[in-house]
Order: sequence, then C-alpha cells, then structure tokens
Amino acid sequence: MDKLAMLGGTRTVPRDRRIPKWPVVTPDDEEAVRRVLASGRFTTASSGEKEIAGLEREWARETGTRHCVAVSNGTTALSLALAAAGIGPGDEVIVPALSFIASAIAPLHVFAVPVFADIDPVTFNVDPAAVEAAVTPRTKAVIVVHLHGLPADLTELMAVAERHGLTVIEDAAQAHGARYHDRPAGSFGAINTFSLNVSKNLATCGEGGLVTTDDADLYQRATMMRQFGEVIPRRGSRSYVSHLLGWNHKPAAIQCAFTRSRLARFGHESELRDQNVRHFLGRLAELPWLHVPTAPDDRTHVWHILRFRIDPEPFGLGPEFAGPLRSVVMRALRAEGVPATHYQLMPLPAQRLFQSPLPGVDRKYRGEDHPNTLRVIDGSFTIQKAHLHPDARPLLDLYADAATKLWENRDVIAAEAKSLDYMPPWREAEQIADAEWEG
Ligand SMILES: Cc1ncc(COP(=O)(O)O)c(C=O)c1O
Repeated sequence: MDKLAMLGGTRTVPRDRRIPKWPVVTPDDEEAVRRVLASGRFTTASSGEKEIAGLEREWARETGTRHCVAVSNGTTALSLALAAAGIGPGDEVIVPALSFIASAIAPLHVFAVPVFADIDPVTFNVDPAAVEAAVTPRTKAVIVVHLHGLPADLTELMAVAERHGLTVIEDAAQAHGARYHDRPAGSFGAINTFSLNVSKNLATCGEGGLVTTDDADLYQRATMMRQFGEVIPRRGSRSYVSHLLGWNHKPAAIQCAFTRSRLARFGHESELRDQNVRHFLGRLAELPWLHVPTAPDDRTHVWHILRFRIDPEPFGLGPEFAGPLRSVVMRALRAEGVPATHYQLMPLPAQRLFQSPLPGVDRKYRGEDHPNTLRVIDGSFTIQKAHLHPDARPLLDLYADAATKLWENRDVIAAEAKSLDYMPPWREAEQIADAEWEG
C-alpha cells in the first residue's frame, strides 16, 4: 500500500503534469478574431456587423428557439431577461439556494426580491416542492438553474409555474447542449440565459452571454434593453431614440466570432468529454465511498462541474462525520495532485450580501432554512475545469488512481477525520469574509 502524499508519500499526479489549457484555441479561432479586427465592426452598433448576428442565429438553431440575443456576460443576460419579462421592484423571484451568486444578484439588479428554495440532495438542482412552498401572492418568476450541467426537473417545475402563473427563466449558464426529454436546455422557459465565460463548456475568449426565447416581444425588448432602449438597425444610421429603460449590455464582436468558431466543433468536443468523464466516473463508481454524479434517464448531463458526495459509512463513520471526512479527503486528494475544490462555501442566502440591507427587501435570509444545501456543501467536493479538455482522459485516470489510493489508506483517512477540529465551510467563509473586509 502506497503512503498518502499528505503524510510524505509520493504524489499520484506528478508536479509537472499540467491541466490542459481551457478553452482550446485553434488556428481557426485565431483567424475568426483576426477577421473581426480587419472588418472594423466591433459591436452591435457597427453597421453591417456579421459575427454577433451570426452567433445569435446559430445558437437559436442549436437550442431550437426562435430568437437569441448576445450580451456582455451571463449575469447581464439574467438581469436583462428579468427586465424584458417585466419583473421589477417588489416582485419576488424564486432562486435555488445552491448556485453561483449571479443567479441571486440578477433579481436585485431589477429591484426584485430573491426568495430561496432548497435543492434536491442527489441532483443538486432546485426541488420543485420547495419552489412551490416558496410561492406567495408576490411571486412573479422562478430562475431554474441547471446546476453543474444537469437539467433541473423541468416537467415538475413548469407545472408549478403554470399553477401559480410564474414566468420561468432557465439559467443555463452551465448547461450548454444539455437535453431534457430530448429538448435542449434553454428552450423551456419564457426567456433563458447562458454564459460564455472562459470557464464554461462553450466559452469565449473573455466574457459573453446569450439569451434565448420563442417570444417575439421578449426578444425585441431584450434586444432594445441591451443597448440603451434603442432600436439599432443592422444597416444604416442610428436614430439615438431611447424607447425604454435599457443598459449597455452589448456583446463584443471579437468574442462572438471566437465562440462561433468554437461552436463548429462544440458537438464533437462535448462527445469526447462525455466519453472521458463516463470512463472516469465508471472507475470512481467502483469505490464504495464515493457517490458519483449521474443523470436521470430523461435528461443528459454535460459535465460542466463534477460533484462527488462522500459516504462516511464505508469508512466506519457515522453521518455526523460527513463534513470532517470531506475535509480530510479534499486535503488528501490535493496532496496527491487532484484539484478537489469547493463550489460555494455556503447557501446563497447566507452570503454577506444577503445579510446586509438591500433596496426594497424586508426579509431575513438564513442559510439554515436550506438543510439539503448545507448538507451537500458540507459533504461533497467538486472537480472543475480539469476535465473539460478533450485530451483530459490520462489526467482523469491519475485522479482515479489517487481516489483508489485514498481508499487503500481508509483507516488513516478515517482516523484523521475523527480527530479533526472541524469547521464547516460556511464558518471558514465567515472568517475569510472578516479578514477580507478588514483588508
Ligand atoms: C449558474 C450561473 N449563472 C450565472 C452565471 C453568470 O455568468 P457570467 O460569469 O458570464 O456573468 C454563472 C457563471 O458562472 C453561473 O454559473
């Protein structure tokens, strides 16, 4: 049995073994960017601009929606979607308690009130029953996040929304290409959003976002709102007439051209990732202590983030050791060279932002109201980005070797977990927040 690296043994992943660079940049992508530089047409306000319009057309086709609006990033995509749908001051918007902070910030940007709903402990997506329980007479919309690349339970969520007259906005920032009942994520809600951030499965060379909808009116409002409420013609001169409240959320043509070039191989890349990740998860599933991410039969997972739940029982530990065990496992994996990370240290409502005064918000937000989210954060870890590259398989094999090594050393791991002076991630985050604020 090899000694654990955290106790002075040899690392499973050699130090010089790098995570392949993401996103992959090919000569075609470089050429696409150069084409924009040569054209001199850089934004939607440039007469005759082709790349932004081209990406919008192609992403609408890819998602099977009638319209797509490219914007500056996935966060502005969400606030624009809310504004276009008429969500405004005092309206309540239901948001999963586990997501990236942008899902919860967007309602605040339009002076609406985020109301959090707990997640399902296995899929990590919002629990439809929790959404229904959060509905009040002031609820106007629900932001359905397809967390980590797995579509949420859309049948149930759409039914809840219909029963209560809510607008559904899919936040598909992490779920490009995922399908639910063989229909693309981002085609179910009234208006839906994607991020093109460098970290995403469909990335740009910087920041970008996409909004999709079948509704011509929502499309027109979103298009106008991204550019000062103006109608900007594809050709000819601009009138500078502002019809409604807008922002400057215009996308950059260089970034749209880059993404468009990547879109041409997106299907192939996604397929290779799917094969690599399934191979990796297959190996990990042989270990009795890890619950690997899976997809119910009626949907596909695009593996944007891999989240692993740890079972204390095979270590001879009770459920109260889930957090300490996860902490030791993360430390041991990192020592072996596996980039095991947290994704979110606390439920969104426990963020400092929600503990401070917010315009038009008169409710108290508490992380403890979302026990499944707390348990998932405490008892699981993630792997991010390292598995995205099509050539990631050999590295993932090393990660699986490291997980096997931990299992061979289970007695050591269990003993460490038992003796740990444990602090849950949200307490650690409090300390970090205090230190950062004090500078
Ligand atoms: C679920 C979710 N929503 C929204 C966003 C915001 O996207 P962006 O970073 O492009 O603003 C992200 C980005 O990570 C996300 O993961």
